[in-house]
Amino acid sequence: MCGIVGYIGFEDVKEIILGGLEKLEYRGYDSAGIAIENNDNMYICKEKGRIAQLRESIDKNITGTIGIGHTRWATHGIPNKINSHPHQSYTKRFTLVHNGIIENEDELRKKYLNNTKFTSDTDTEVIVQLIEKFVNDGESVELAIRHTMSELEGSYALAILDKTDTDTIYAAKNKTPLLAGKGEGFNMVGSDAMAMINHTNQFYEIEDREFLKITKDNIEIYTIYGNKVTREPYIADIDSSDIEKGTYPHYMMKEIEEQPFVMRKIMSEYSDEKGNMKISPEIIQNVRECDKLYIIACGTSYHAGLIGKQFFEKIAGKPTEVIIASEFIYNMPLLSENPLFMFISQSGETADSRAVLVKVKEMGYKTLTLTNVKGSTLSREADSTLLLYAGPEIAVASTKAYTAQIAVLAILAASVNNKINIDIFKELSKIAYTMETLCDDKDNYKALAEKYLQNSRNCFYIGRSMDYFICLEASLKLKEISYIQTEGFAAGELKHGTIALIEDNTPVIAIITQENINLNTRSNIKEVKARGAATMVISMRKFSQETDQIVIDDVNELLSPLATIIPAQYLAYYAALLKGCDIDKPRNLAKSVTVE
Ligand code: F6R
Repeated sequence: MCGIVGYIGFEDVKEIILGGLEKLEYRGYDSAGIAIENNDNMYICKEKGRIAQLRESIDKNITGTIGIGHTRWATHGIPNKINSHPHQSYTKRFTLVHNGIIENEDELRKKYLNNTKFTSDTDTEVIVQLIEKFVNDGESVELAIRHTMSELEGSYALAILDKTDTDTIYAAKNKTPLLAGKGEGFNMVGSDAMAMINHTNQFYEIEDREFLKITKDNIEIYTIYGNKVTREPYIADIDSSDIEKGTYPHYMMKEIEEQPFVMRKIMSEYSDEKGNMKISPEIIQNVRECDKLYIIACGTSYHAGLIGKQFFEKIAGKPTEVIIASEFIYNMPLLSENPLFMFISQSGETADSRAVLVKVKEMGYKTLTLTNVKGSTLSREADSTLLLYAGPEIAVASTKAYTAQIAVLAILAASVNNKINIDIFKELSKIAYTMETLCDDKDNYKALAEKYLQNSRNCFYIGRSMDYFICLEASLKLKEISYIQTEGFAAGELKHGTIALIEDNTPVIAIITQENINLNTRSNIKEVKARGAATMVISMRKFSQETDQIVIDDVNELLSPLATIIPAQYLAYYAALLKGCDIDKPRNLAKSVTVE
């Protein structure tokens, strides 16, 4: 959940590393640091806080053509200057940045480093101290790094500098993302392509337990045993303008407003020249042949999975279970005889989901990943992949990837049952248009956020059936960026306990887009209103009432979540804005959760 970047070449490295770290800030932003080889000296600068603070502190006169940088999401040791990366070995010969968690750090300290004086509280320092110890024991640098890798239990992406060799960056990976970027007269290494895309679009995927030697002219990949790996780079299809904010005040606003475009992009990617749905026949066959579909995901992607279950059961007639990845791994349900596992993950790197993927692959089951990131770990390791085509999502709170997940799930379910009488593309086109109309109503959402949310301590979303799943996602969005304690409830459950929480002016936002539950949810609204709640209603036009604050044009009820979520995303956005929160980088969070 940290970000690392390294560069070796001919340009001044300072701006390249800082620029790369800014692109990686979504992965962690509680402290940051940089190391630059400068005339046989290792210049190190670290700061608590954001890259902007690091930028302020860095010595403007420092130059160099080899360097590494890190942006941190603390796991071991509080976020402060000392615990920030890079970390150095005791003689300061080796300097290292790390993303991941070393699980056996205590054993390694006892076994090898009893007499070593540590300066930080991090697990990372163990790695750099071990490398130095093995070198001092007589091993070559390469061997010492591979030896260290073989001792480490846990996850790591590493970039390492050796003060005595200013022509090489060493790197290594296990269970944490790492790419090498190939340039002309320079090479790079980083946690993702975005950190390097302003300089190159050619990347080498790195597998677990691989070790890299990177010079300005070469990228050499080796296994942990020292065997050379031959691999071709791939060209990343990312436009560097996709990762700029442009005139938008925040990435989240940009990404909310990109959703109509994403719907159209998905339709074009998943249609053939005649405009029919186009999904790999093998994937369709795997879904048809399984006796049960198990959807595994976390957070927002899990919420998309809950909606996917409705599609697979109602459109494709396929029994489906949706399970939170971190629960599945320690409490596996009784599985059907011939299951298919589907992983939904925007980043394709989420460690909890990956742990399940590794386990079910060992058990011999078929796997499919839905992800936004081509070449990501979950994509590479599953039997097949469906891409989301949402474009890079930078804001920590997921918006366009969520609706992309739902749209791709709908297309897959409809492709499995080609006899259904819903024209998914026609309905998705209507959704894209409705999303645009909803985006035009921003002033209304801002006014509602001012009235209902700005001064609230807590808030409830209520709804039934498809609307309930949106309540879960809407409440996650609101709580994660505005810090208002928000819960999503099945409206019928309120009277079984939760209604005790309703006080004068507690905001309760009801979602009503399903005709068969319209009257039931309206009764629940009356119940909370009678107990003092300040109620707001988001409803579909055909059964809206004059007093409903947000009305959505009629769309297919099964696909309505794609439209309903738009005002909820804006309400979260404006509530956070009004409360002065950091919208794109909420506290304590990181976008890519690569630790279990
Ligand atoms: C919330 C959010 C997270 C992610 C979750 C899984 O806005 O983005 O809840 O959905 O961390 O991440 P992915 O989808 O990358 O596996």
